[in-house]
Order: sequence, then structure tokens, then C-alpha cells
Amino acid sequence: MHDVKKMKLYHNPKRIYNELEASGLNKDTALKVQDLSPFDQYHYFGTDSVDDAITSLNISSENTILEIGSGIGGPARYIAEETGCHVTALELQPELNDIAVDLTERCGLSQLVNHVCGDILKFNQENTNFDYVVSWLTFLHIPDRNTLLNKCNSILKLGGKIFIDDYYKRNEFEEEELKVLANDVSCNYLPTKDEYKKQLIKSGFNEIKIIDKTYSWKNFVKERKERFIQNSESQIEIHNKEIVDDLEDFFSKVSWLFDHGNLGGLRIIAKKRGKI
Ligand SMILES: C[S@@+](CC[C@H](N)C(=O)[O-])C[C@H]1O[C@@H](n2cnc3c(N)ncnc32)[C@H](O)[C@@H]1O
Repeated sequence: MHDVKKMKLYHNPKRIYNELEASGLNKDTALKVQDLSPFDQYHYFGTDSVDDAITSLNISSENTILEIGSGIGGPARYIAEETGCHVTALELQPELNDIAVDLTERCGLSQLVNHVCGDILKFNQENTNFDYVVSWLTFLHIPDRNTLLNKCNSILKLGGKIFIDDYYKRNEFEEEELKVLANDVSCNYLPTKDEYKKQLIKSGFNEIKIIDKTYSWKNFVKERKERFIQNSESQIEIHNKEIVDDLEDFFSKVSWLFDHGNLGGLRIIAKKRGKI
């Protein structure tokens, strides 16, 4: 099975330090969450999408949140800064997690954001009482949906909610699409929308709301690719050619996948069955 660490998006996560330096923020400077937002969100529509989670879940300072697949910590820091809630930010890759810890400290948010390095499938938190589980573009890396969704359910309070942005299978994939999904996106399994809903019900969720994001994500990834290619010379000055080639290849492959028409995007909000 393809190793998520080999995905080109994750090849050089320290590139954020190049971006900060180009904005006049060197390694010792204290940071604001807003300084980081253009660079630390590894999903579509950046903090707008995180705002959607805050609003639709009605997150407040009273709440405890688990983010699954927190990358270099962008969404977790933003949620904590905006709402004052406590976030446990779980990330599989140590290199990304270390960067997340550093950036969170420099933002003065370590009291609110607890970075944990590990695999959600093995996550064993004493406090199995989160109000909300949030996750952006991470479930697509995890084929074992049964364990994943059961785990999400078991760590939520009764009546707690989940907010997920993820890929799904609109139609059967062609062989080339399957190859690109596996080799370039580390995605080895995707359910259809109906299968997703059935899996959620089986794992103990109800009040399931599914919003199709395919059209807006298709446009987002196309514009991201085109903007990146247009600015590639200045990107090479900020980073180096290897980093820019990796990102260009990754952004192009993702745009190709959405253009092909069989890959879809969705947002799910669902509630753990039972009352608080
Ligand atoms: C597309 S990134 C999104 C990062 C972050 N949510 C964001 O939007 O900026 C997906 C992240 O999920 C992590 N991941 C993948 N499988 C995981 C697992 N089984 N447990 C925890 N994290 C995982 C990856 O290492 C990667 O950092």
C-alpha cells in the first residue's frame, strides 16, 4: 500500500518557513494565526471552510474538539483562536506534527491546542468525551472506514457531532484514475455517497447531512493549479525548483482527477445517536 508520507504535498512541509521568511517573519519571530493562514491550510477554501465548521457546529469556548489529520496545525490553531475552545490535533506524520507544535507555540496557543502524533485507528484517549470531531481531507487516506467511523463515534459525547470534508466515488473509476489516486494522493478506497451514509448509520450516527462539494472543489483545484503555474518563478525564488516541481505535479494531478468526472467531494455533518 502507498505510504502517505511519500505524497508530494507532504515532501517538504518545512517549506512554510520559506514562505514566512519571504513575508518578513524569520524563525524566532512571534506569529499571529493570520500570518500563517495563507500557508498552513492543507485543504480547499482555507479558513472559509474552517469558519463553516465553527458556524455549523456552533463551536464555543466550552467545547473540546478532536481534529483528525491535523497536518501542520492550521485548522486547529484557527478554531482555537476564533472560539477559545480546546483542540486535540492528531497527526500521523511526526515531521508535520513537530512543525505544528513549533508554530502553535509561536502563536501563543499551546494552552488551547494539544498536538498529538499518532494514527486515529490506534488512538486511545482517556477522555472519550469530545463534543465534536472535525477532519479535512484525511479520511480519504484511510481505507478502514469501519474502524475509523466506529472510533469517531466512540470518542464523541452522546449527541456530539462530526464535521468531515472528504472525497467520494461518483462513478466507477478508470484504471488510470485508480493509479493516480493510489500513487499521488495516497487514496486506496472511496465509498459512494450512499455507501458513506450507510457506513455512518452503522457506526452509530444519525441526523446525517451530506453536502456535495464536487463543483466548487473542481474549480478550486483548477484555479490553484493555474495560479501556481503562473507564479512558478517567484515560487522558485521563495523555495527551490524541487519543491515547486513537486507541488506543481501534485496540484496538476488533483485537478486532472476532478476534471475526469468520477471523483467527487462532499461535506458531512452527523450526530452521534442519543442525547447529551
Ligand atoms: C490533506 S492533509 C490535511 C491537514 C489539515 N487537516 C489541514 O486541512 O490543513 C491530511 C492529513 O491527514 C494525516 N493522516 C493521514 N492518515 C492519518 C491517520 N490514520 N491518523 C492521523 N492522521 C492521518 C496526513 O498525514 C495529513 O497530514
